[in-house]
Amino acid sequence: METAIKLNHVSKSFGKRRVVDDLCLETHTGEVFGFLGPNGAGKTTTIKMLVGLIDFDEGEISVCGADIRRQFEKAMANVGGIVENPELYRYMTGLQNLRQYARMRKGVTEERIREVVELVGLTNRIHEKVSKYSLGMRQRLGVAQSLLHHPKVLILDEPTNGLDPAGIRELRDILRNLAHRENVCVMVSSHLMSEMQLMCDRVGIIVKGKLLQVTSVEELIHQTKGNAGRYRYLVDSAAHAAEVLRREGQECLQSDEHTLDITLTGEDVMGTLLKLNRALFTAGVGVYTVSPAETQRLEDAFIELTKGETQIA
Ligand SMILES: Nc1ncnc2c1ncn2[C@@H]1O[C@H](COP(=O)(O)OP(=O)(O)OP(=O)(O)O)[C@@H](O)[C@H]1O
Ligand SMILES: [Mg+2]
Repeated sequence: METAIKLNHVSKSFGKRRVVDDLCLETHTGEVFGFLGPNGAGKTTTIKMLVGLIDFDEGEISVCGADIRRQFEKAMANVGGIVENPELYRYMTGLQNLRQYARMRKGVTEERIREVVELVGLTNRIHEKVSKYSLGMRQRLGVAQSLLHHPKVLILDEPTNGLDPAGIRELRDILRNLAHRENVCVMVSSHLMSEMQLMCDRVGIIVKGKLLQVTSVEELIHQTKGNAGRYRYLVDSAAHAAEVLRREGQECLQSDEHTLDITLTGEDVMGTLLKLNRALFTAGVGVYTVSPAETQRLEDAFIELTKGETQIA
């Protein structure tokens, strides 16, 4: 795992309005990082700075160790991105578009073109004109295009905008594969919490230009209050499990022969769950699942974190 993007106290103003405010952030190769924030939070502005489309006022940005100001070309060689819509020629086929784009980049081979087409799952339709593509197919072609030069960082601003649920899922799989199999750092922005929850490994929440926190998706869901609550166990023997849990000092409520509810309080909910699961396992209890009894979604966590901040600044 290497550092992909590093923002160090970065600020940006438009006139008197400070749109990005003292942002510090580090992302890694091999992860899908989500940039989550309400409308006007500064996501697109930050992404534009990262892909070199606009300059910033204060701080430093580097990509794979290359300072974006002092080593611009080197930094940009490691970035692929789509801000707003991918630029495509509709009267050309998908393949012609990629070849056209490849001419502007050094060292993109036919082999690489085939590879990226395969990566985004467009092999069967690559000889059709882009004007006949659906929105989802154009998005895929856009992703393929941004990957041609082998960037270690792929940055996409609201990539699922306008896609239907199936399209979102397909894009999500493509992006997760890129990160987890090809070791790319994929950075996506969105204001849709539910989507981020499924797509990302870590999420940074930005509100009014400030980064409120960076956490793993699980942590974010678990740490919010209201969820430090009930968990439900599905086990082979609830009676046996109850005995083990009580021995660990954990109160529990058995609702049928396979179901047990517990309530966790205190700081370290995850730590407690780990301890209890180990005890159950050691005692030979068969655990099918353990899940938050009221599954709190990232959305609730997000709203809780940003409460009172829903007005566009
Ligand atoms: N070129 C510009 N000139 C002046 N103000 C700008 C410019 N670009 C963005 N802004 C302002 O900066 C703030 C952040 O905008 P930005 O587009 O980064 O938000 P965002 O998080 O991408 O929001 P959304 O979810 O709506 O896309 C907004 O208040 C916006 O009006
Ligand atoms: Mg935006």
